[in-house]
Amino acid sequence: MYARTALESIRLFHDELTALRRDLHAHPELGFEEVRTSGIVAGALEALGIEVHRGIGKTGVVGVIRGKHCDSGRMIGLRADMDALPMGEDNTFSHKSSKSGLMHACGHDGHTTVLIGAARYLSQSRNFNGTAVLIFQPAEEGTGGAQAMLDDGLFEMFPCDAIYALHNWPGLKPGMIGVNPGPMMAAADRFEIVIEGRGGHGAHPYQTIDPVTVAGHLITALQSIVSRNVNPLDSAVVSIGALQAGNPDAMSVIPSTARLVGTVRTFRKTVQELIESRMNQMAASIAGAFGAKATVKYERLFPATINTPQHANLVADIATDLIGKENVVRDLTPSMGSEDFSVMLQHKPGAYFRLGQGGAEEGCVLHNPRFDFNDAVIPLGSAMFCALAERGMPLNE
Ligand code: NI
Repeated sequence: MYARTALESIRLFHDELTALRRDLHAHPELGFEEVRTSGIVAGALEALGIEVHRGIGKTGVVGVIRGKHCDSGRMIGLRADMDALPMGEDNTFSHKSSKSGLMHACGHDGHTTVLIGAARYLSQSRNFNGTAVLIFQPAEEGTGGAQAMLDDGLFEMFPCDAIYALHNWPGLKPGMIGVNPGPMMAAADRFEIVIEGRGGHGAHPYQTIDPVTVAGHLITALQSIVSRNVNPLDSAVVSIGALQAGNPDAMSVIPSTARLVGTVRTFRKTVQELIESRMNQMAASIAGAFGAKATVKYERLFPATINTPQHANLVADIATDLIGKENVVRDLTPSMGSEDFSVMLQHKPGAYFRLGQGGAEEGCVLHNPRFDFNDAVIPLGSAMFCALAERGMPLNE
Protein backbone atom coordinates (compact mmCIF):
# COMPACT_ATOMS: atom_id res chain seq x y z
CA MET A 1 0.00 0.00 0.00
CA TYR A 2 2.73 2.43 1.04
CA ALA A 3 4.84 1.13 -1.80
CA ARG A 4 2.31 1.90 -4.50
CA THR A 5 1.82 5.39 -3.07
CA ALA A 6 5.57 5.98 -3.33
CA LEU A 7 5.74 4.80 -6.93
CA GLU A 8 2.83 7.03 -7.96
CA SER A 9 4.27 10.02 -6.12
CA ILE A 10 7.72 9.60 -7.63
CA ARG A 11 6.30 9.34 -11.13
CA LEU A 12 5.02 12.89 -10.69
CA PHE A 13 8.61 14.17 -10.69
CA HIS A 14 10.05 11.61 -13.07
CA ASP A 15 10.96 14.35 -15.60
CA GLU A 16 13.04 16.23 -13.05
CA LEU A 17 14.85 13.04 -12.06
CA THR A 18 15.53 12.24 -15.72
CA ALA A 19 17.03 15.72 -16.24
CA LEU A 20 19.22 15.24 -13.15
CA ARG A 21 20.36 11.79 -14.32
CA ARG A 22 21.34 13.14 -17.74
CA ASP A 23 23.22 16.03 -16.17
CA LEU A 24 25.20 13.57 -14.04
CA HIS A 25 25.82 11.43 -17.13
CA ALA A 26 27.22 14.43 -18.99
CA HIS A 27 29.61 15.19 -16.12
CA PRO A 28 31.26 11.91 -15.07
CA GLU A 29 33.87 11.88 -12.30
CA LEU A 30 36.24 9.13 -11.18
CA GLY A 31 36.27 7.57 -7.72
CA PHE A 32 37.14 9.99 -4.88
CA GLU A 33 36.98 12.84 -7.42
CA GLU A 34 33.17 13.14 -7.34
CA VAL A 35 33.34 16.78 -6.26
CA ARG A 36 30.67 18.15 -8.59
CA THR A 37 28.48 15.06 -8.17
CA SER A 38 28.62 15.04 -4.37
CA GLY A 39 27.96 18.80 -4.39
CA ILE A 40 24.81 18.24 -6.45
CA VAL A 41 23.72 15.40 -4.16
CA ALA A 42 24.29 17.45 -1.00
CA GLY A 43 22.51 20.45 -2.56
CA ALA A 44 19.51 18.33 -3.56
CA LEU A 45 19.25 16.82 -0.06
CA GLU A 46 19.61 20.20 1.66
CA ALA A 47 16.91 21.67 -0.58
CA LEU A 48 14.62 18.92 0.74
CA GLY A 49 15.46 19.87 4.32
CA ILE A 50 17.44 16.70 4.89
CA GLU A 51 20.33 16.61 7.39
CA VAL A 52 23.52 16.20 5.32
CA HIS A 53 26.95 14.86 6.32
CA ARG A 54 29.78 15.36 3.85
CA GLY A 55 33.33 14.09 3.66
CA ILE A 56 32.59 10.54 4.86
CA GLY A 57 34.95 8.56 2.62
CA LYS A 58 36.39 11.72 1.06
CA THR A 59 33.66 12.59 -1.46
CA GLY A 60 30.94 10.49 0.19
CA VAL A 61 27.66 12.07 1.30
CA VAL A 62 25.14 10.82 3.86
CA GLY A 63 21.60 12.13 4.24
CA VAL A 64 19.53 11.43 7.37
CA ILE A 65 15.72 11.39 7.29
CA ARG A 66 13.81 10.82 10.52
CA GLY A 67 10.37 9.27 10.24
CA LYS A 68 7.14 10.58 11.78
CA HIS A 69 8.22 8.57 14.81
CA CYS A 70 11.68 7.46 15.85
CA ASP A 71 10.91 5.54 19.05
CA SER A 72 11.45 2.17 17.36
CA GLY A 73 15.16 3.01 17.34
CA ARG A 74 15.38 1.39 13.92
CA MET A 75 17.75 2.57 11.23
CA ILE A 76 17.91 1.47 7.60
CA GLY A 77 20.71 2.32 5.19
CA LEU A 78 20.09 2.81 1.46
CA ARG A 79 23.20 3.05 -0.64
CA ALA A 80 23.98 4.39 -4.14
CA ASP A 81 27.36 4.66 -5.87
CA MET A 82 28.41 7.85 -7.68
CA ASP A 83 31.60 7.23 -9.68
CA ALA A 84 32.26 6.85 -13.41
CA LEU A 85 34.85 4.88 -15.38
CA PRO A 86 38.09 5.89 -17.10
CA MET A 87 36.86 5.13 -20.64
CA GLY A 88 35.66 7.13 -23.60
CA GLU A 89 31.99 7.28 -24.62
CA ASP A 90 30.78 6.41 -28.14
CA ASN A 91 27.23 7.72 -27.69
CA THR A 92 26.21 10.82 -29.64
CA PHE A 93 23.08 11.95 -27.74
CA SER A 94 23.06 15.40 -26.16
CA HIS A 95 23.76 14.18 -22.62
CA LYS A 96 26.89 12.24 -23.65
CA SER A 97 29.98 12.70 -21.54
CA SER A 98 31.48 16.17 -21.74
CA LYS A 99 34.86 14.82 -20.57
CA SER A 100 37.05 12.83 -22.91
CA GLY A 101 38.18 9.50 -21.49
CA LEU A 102 35.54 9.52 -18.75
CA MET A 103 32.12 7.91 -18.85
CA HIS A 104 29.20 6.74 -16.71
CA ALA A 105 29.29 3.30 -18.33
CA CYS A 106 27.99 1.42 -15.29
CA GLY A 107 24.92 3.53 -14.59
CA HIS A 108 26.02 4.95 -11.26
CA ASP A 109 24.53 8.24 -12.50
CA GLY A 110 21.21 6.37 -12.47
CA HIS A 111 21.76 4.87 -9.02
CA THR A 112 22.54 8.30 -7.55
CA THR A 113 19.38 9.72 -9.16
CA VAL A 114 17.25 6.82 -7.93
CA LEU A 115 18.35 7.47 -4.34
CA ILE A 116 17.68 11.20 -4.67
CA GLY A 117 14.19 10.31 -5.93
CA ALA A 118 13.70 8.17 -2.82
CA ALA A 119 15.03 10.99 -0.63
CA ARG A 120 12.44 13.37 -2.05
CA TYR A 121 9.53 11.04 -1.34
CA LEU A 122 10.76 9.84 2.06
CA SER A 123 11.51 13.36 3.31
CA GLN A 124 8.01 14.52 2.37
CA SER A 125 6.02 11.49 3.54
CA ARG A 126 8.11 10.25 6.50
CA ASN A 127 5.77 7.25 6.78
CA PHE A 128 8.08 5.23 8.97
CA ASN A 129 9.15 4.80 12.56
CA GLY A 130 12.92 5.14 12.65
CA THR A 131 15.70 6.72 10.63
CA ALA A 132 16.48 6.33 6.93
CA VAL A 133 20.18 6.80 6.15
CA LEU A 134 20.92 7.64 2.51
CA ILE A 135 24.48 6.59 1.71
CA PHE A 136 25.99 8.16 -1.43
CA GLN A 137 29.20 6.22 -1.84
CA PRO A 138 32.23 7.28 -3.88
CA ALA A 139 34.65 5.05 -5.75
CA GLU A 140 32.80 1.77 -6.26
CA GLU A 141 34.86 0.91 -9.36
CA GLY A 142 37.74 -0.87 -7.69
CA THR A 143 39.24 1.84 -5.52
CA GLY A 144 37.59 1.06 -2.20
CA GLY A 145 34.91 3.70 -1.61
CA ALA A 146 32.87 1.48 0.69
CA GLN A 147 35.90 0.76 2.87
CA ALA A 148 36.77 4.47 2.95
CA MET A 149 33.30 5.28 4.30
CA LEU A 150 33.63 2.53 6.93
CA ASP A 151 37.09 3.82 7.89
CA ASP A 152 35.51 7.23 8.47
CA GLY A 153 33.04 5.67 10.91
CA LEU A 154 29.93 5.30 8.73
CA PHE A 155 28.33 2.60 10.85
CA GLU A 156 29.48 4.10 14.16
CA MET A 157 27.74 7.36 13.25
CA PHE A 158 24.79 5.59 11.64
CA PRO A 159 24.38 2.13 13.21
CA CYS A 160 22.01 0.72 10.59
CA ASP A 161 20.02 -2.45 11.34
CA ALA A 162 19.99 -3.35 7.65
CA ILE A 163 21.39 -1.97 4.41
CA TYR A 164 20.25 -2.16 0.80
CA ALA A 165 21.68 -1.29 -2.60
CA LEU A 166 20.62 -1.81 -6.19
CA HIS A 167 22.38 -2.05 -9.54
CA ASN A 168 20.82 -1.61 -12.95
CA TRP A 169 20.95 -4.81 -14.99
CA PRO A 170 20.74 -4.79 -18.82
CA GLY A 171 20.08 -8.56 -18.90
CA LEU A 172 16.75 -8.09 -17.11
CA LYS A 173 13.85 -6.37 -18.84
CA PRO A 174 12.82 -2.89 -17.64
CA GLY A 175 10.25 -3.21 -14.88
CA MET A 176 11.78 -6.40 -13.50
CA ILE A 177 13.68 -6.93 -10.24
CA GLY A 178 16.10 -9.74 -9.45
CA VAL A 179 17.43 -10.77 -6.05
CA ASN A 180 18.85 -13.95 -4.47
CA PRO A 181 18.61 -15.00 -0.82
CA GLY A 182 22.37 -15.68 -0.93
CA PRO A 183 25.24 -15.15 -3.40
CA MET A 184 24.85 -12.25 -5.87
CA MET A 185 28.40 -11.35 -6.92
CA ALA A 186 31.77 -13.05 -6.50
CA ALA A 187 34.80 -12.13 -4.44
CA ALA A 188 37.50 -10.47 -6.54
CA ASP A 189 41.17 -11.14 -5.81
CA ARG A 190 44.29 -9.98 -7.64
CA PHE A 191 47.44 -12.01 -7.96
CA GLU A 192 50.86 -11.23 -9.28
CA ILE A 193 53.51 -13.91 -9.80
CA VAL A 194 57.09 -12.85 -10.37
CA ILE A 195 59.36 -15.55 -11.79
CA GLU A 196 63.06 -14.97 -11.33
CA GLY A 197 65.43 -16.86 -13.59
CA ARG A 198 68.77 -15.91 -15.08
CA GLY A 199 68.94 -13.93 -18.30
CA GLY A 200 71.31 -14.47 -21.18
CA HIS A 201 71.72 -14.92 -24.92
CA GLY A 202 68.84 -16.48 -26.82
CA ALA A 203 71.34 -18.49 -28.81
CA HIS A 204 72.78 -19.98 -25.61
CA PRO A 205 69.75 -20.91 -23.52
CA TYR A 206 71.71 -23.62 -21.67
CA GLN A 207 73.57 -20.79 -19.92
CA THR A 208 70.32 -19.27 -18.64
CA ILE A 209 67.32 -20.10 -16.47
CA ASP A 210 64.52 -19.07 -18.79
CA PRO A 211 61.61 -17.47 -16.85
CA VAL A 212 59.46 -17.39 -20.01
CA THR A 213 59.44 -21.19 -20.22
CA VAL A 214 58.53 -21.34 -16.53
CA ALA A 215 55.70 -18.84 -17.13
CA GLY A 216 54.37 -21.02 -19.95
CA HIS A 217 54.22 -24.11 -17.75
CA LEU A 218 52.71 -22.15 -14.89
CA ILE A 219 49.96 -20.61 -17.04
CA THR A 220 48.83 -24.07 -18.11
CA ALA A 221 49.14 -25.55 -14.63
CA LEU A 222 47.16 -22.75 -12.94
CA GLN A 223 44.18 -23.55 -15.16
CA SER A 224 44.03 -27.01 -13.60
CA ILE A 225 43.19 -25.55 -10.17
CA VAL A 226 39.57 -24.90 -11.18
CA SER A 227 39.20 -28.11 -13.18
CA ARG A 228 41.13 -30.50 -10.86
CA ASN A 229 41.10 -29.04 -7.33
CA VAL A 230 37.89 -27.04 -6.92
CA ASN A 231 34.77 -29.10 -6.27
CA PRO A 232 32.79 -29.07 -9.53
CA LEU A 233 29.68 -27.96 -7.64
CA ASP A 234 31.47 -24.79 -6.52
CA SER A 235 32.13 -21.83 -8.82
CA ALA A 236 35.54 -20.30 -9.41
CA VAL A 237 37.50 -18.44 -12.06
CA VAL A 238 41.27 -18.09 -12.45
CA SER A 239 42.15 -15.67 -15.26
CA ILE A 240 45.59 -14.44 -16.21
CA GLY A 241 45.16 -11.04 -17.80
CA ALA A 242 48.79 -10.11 -18.32
CA LEU A 243 52.07 -11.81 -19.08
CA GLN A 244 55.10 -9.61 -19.20
CA ALA A 245 58.65 -10.66 -20.01
CA GLY A 246 61.49 -9.49 -22.16
CA ASN A 247 61.49 -6.89 -24.90
CA PRO A 248 59.86 -7.45 -28.32
CA ASP A 249 62.77 -5.50 -29.88
CA ALA A 250 65.32 -7.93 -28.44
CA MET A 251 64.61 -11.32 -29.98
CA SER A 252 67.85 -12.90 -28.83
CA VAL A 253 67.68 -11.84 -25.19
CA ILE A 254 66.31 -14.24 -22.61
CA PRO A 255 65.08 -12.01 -19.80
CA SER A 256 65.81 -12.50 -16.11
CA THR A 257 62.24 -12.20 -14.95
CA ALA A 258 58.68 -12.79 -16.08
CA ARG A 259 55.51 -11.53 -14.49
CA LEU A 260 51.94 -12.88 -14.55
CA VAL A 261 49.02 -10.80 -13.30
CA GLY A 262 45.46 -12.01 -13.03
CA THR A 263 42.27 -12.32 -11.05
CA VAL A 264 40.54 -15.03 -9.03
CA ARG A 265 36.76 -15.01 -8.52
CA THR A 266 34.99 -17.15 -5.93
CA PHE A 267 31.87 -17.22 -3.75
CA ARG A 268 33.07 -19.36 -0.84
CA LYS A 269 35.96 -18.58 1.47
CA THR A 270 37.10 -22.21 1.51
CA VAL A 271 37.39 -22.18 -2.29
CA GLN A 272 39.25 -18.87 -2.20
CA GLU A 273 41.71 -20.29 0.34
CA LEU A 274 42.18 -23.46 -1.68
CA ILE A 275 43.00 -21.51 -4.85
CA GLU A 276 45.47 -19.24 -3.09
CA SER A 277 47.22 -22.18 -1.47
CA ARG A 278 47.39 -24.25 -4.70
CA MET A 279 48.68 -21.21 -6.58
CA ASN A 280 51.50 -20.81 -4.07
CA GLN A 281 52.39 -24.51 -4.25
CA MET A 282 52.38 -24.60 -8.05
CA ALA A 283 54.38 -21.42 -8.46
CA ALA A 284 57.07 -22.60 -6.04
CA SER A 285 57.21 -26.18 -7.35
CA ILE A 286 57.12 -25.44 -11.07
CA ALA A 287 59.65 -22.63 -10.81
CA GLY A 288 61.78 -24.86 -8.59
CA ALA A 289 61.68 -27.70 -11.13
CA PHE A 290 63.33 -25.38 -13.67
CA GLY A 291 65.81 -23.91 -11.19
CA ALA A 292 63.94 -20.61 -11.03
CA LYS A 293 62.20 -18.88 -8.14
CA ALA A 294 58.62 -17.60 -8.05
CA THR A 295 56.95 -15.30 -5.58
CA VAL A 296 53.20 -14.87 -5.40
CA LYS A 297 51.55 -11.70 -4.20
CA TYR A 298 47.88 -12.50 -3.56
CA GLU A 299 45.49 -9.67 -2.64
CA ARG A 300 41.88 -10.13 -1.56
CA LEU A 301 40.30 -6.99 -2.98
CA PHE A 302 36.56 -7.46 -2.49
CA PRO A 303 34.62 -10.14 -0.66
CA ALA A 304 31.68 -11.90 -2.28
CA THR A 305 28.34 -10.08 -2.21
CA ILE A 306 26.12 -12.39 -0.18
CA ASN A 307 22.59 -11.33 0.74
CA THR A 308 21.03 -12.30 4.03
CA PRO A 309 17.91 -14.37 3.16
CA GLN A 310 15.55 -12.38 5.40
CA HIS A 311 16.44 -9.07 3.73
CA ALA A 312 16.56 -10.50 0.21
CA ASN A 313 13.11 -11.96 0.75
CA LEU A 314 11.81 -8.55 1.88
CA VAL A 315 13.16 -7.04 -1.36
CA ALA A 316 11.45 -9.76 -3.39
CA ASP A 317 8.16 -9.41 -1.47
CA ILE A 318 8.13 -5.63 -1.93
CA ALA A 319 8.94 -6.02 -5.63
CA THR A 320 6.12 -8.57 -5.97
CA ASP A 321 3.66 -6.07 -4.46
CA LEU A 322 4.88 -3.34 -6.82
CA ILE A 323 5.26 -5.15 -10.14
CA GLY A 324 3.70 -8.60 -9.73
CA LYS A 325 5.41 -11.91 -9.15
CA GLU A 326 5.89 -12.53 -12.89
CA ASN A 327 8.38 -9.64 -12.89
CA VAL A 328 10.41 -10.75 -9.90
CA VAL A 329 13.29 -13.20 -10.30
CA ARG A 330 14.24 -14.85 -7.01
CA ASP A 331 16.87 -17.22 -8.41
CA LEU A 332 19.22 -15.20 -10.58
CA THR A 333 22.42 -16.79 -11.76
CA PRO A 334 25.05 -15.12 -9.56
CA SER A 335 27.62 -13.01 -11.43
CA MET A 336 31.38 -13.63 -11.31
CA GLY A 337 31.74 -9.83 -11.32
CA SER A 338 32.24 -8.08 -8.00
CA GLU A 339 30.71 -5.18 -6.12
CA ASP A 340 32.16 -3.30 -3.20
CA PHE A 341 28.80 -3.02 -1.40
CA SER A 342 29.98 -6.47 -0.25
CA VAL A 343 32.36 -4.68 2.11
CA MET A 344 29.39 -3.04 3.85
CA LEU A 345 27.49 -6.35 3.86
CA GLN A 346 30.35 -7.85 5.89
CA HIS A 347 29.33 -5.50 8.72
CA LYS A 348 25.55 -5.26 8.37
CA PRO A 349 22.85 -7.62 7.15
CA GLY A 350 21.05 -6.57 4.02
CA ALA A 351 20.53 -7.18 0.35
CA TYR A 352 21.79 -6.09 -3.04
CA PHE A 353 19.31 -6.40 -5.88
CA ARG A 354 19.12 -5.87 -9.63
CA LEU A 355 16.90 -3.34 -11.31
CA GLY A 356 16.10 -4.53 -14.82
CA GLN A 357 16.84 -1.93 -17.45
CA GLY A 358 17.01 -3.96 -20.68
CA GLY A 359 19.28 -3.19 -23.61
CA ALA A 360 21.57 -6.24 -23.41
CA GLU A 361 20.32 -7.58 -26.77
CA GLU A 362 21.33 -4.31 -28.43
CA GLY A 363 24.77 -4.42 -26.85
CA CYS A 364 23.96 -1.80 -24.21
CA VAL A 365 25.81 -3.72 -21.50
CA LEU A 366 27.71 -2.50 -18.44
CA HIS A 367 31.12 -0.95 -19.20
CA ASN A 368 30.34 -0.72 -22.93
CA PRO A 369 31.15 2.64 -24.61
CA ARG A 370 27.53 2.85 -25.81
CA PHE A 371 25.95 2.13 -22.43
CA ASP A 372 23.32 4.50 -21.05
CA PHE A 373 21.16 4.15 -17.94
CA ASN A 374 17.49 3.63 -18.82
CA ASP A 375 15.63 6.61 -17.30
CA ALA A 376 12.31 4.74 -17.53
CA VAL A 377 13.23 2.63 -14.50
CA ILE A 378 14.11 5.50 -12.12
CA PRO A 379 10.70 5.60 -10.35
CA LEU A 380 10.67 1.85 -9.73
CA GLY A 381 14.17 1.96 -8.25
CA SER A 382 13.25 4.90 -6.02
CA ALA A 383 10.00 3.25 -4.94
CA MET A 384 11.87 0.08 -3.99
CA PHE A 385 14.15 2.07 -1.68
CA CYS A 386 11.15 3.93 -0.18
CA ALA A 387 9.26 0.71 0.45
CA LEU A 388 12.32 -0.88 2.09
CA ALA A 389 12.42 2.02 4.55
CA GLU A 390 8.65 1.98 5.14
CA ARG A 391 8.28 -1.79 5.46
CA GLY A 392 11.50 -2.18 7.42
CA MET A 393 10.45 0.49 9.93
CA PRO A 394 6.64 0.33 9.95
CA LEU A 395 4.65 3.12 11.60
CA ASN A 396 1.99 0.75 12.89
CA GLU A 397 3.07 -2.54 14.31
NI1 NI B 1 28.49 -0.58 -11.30
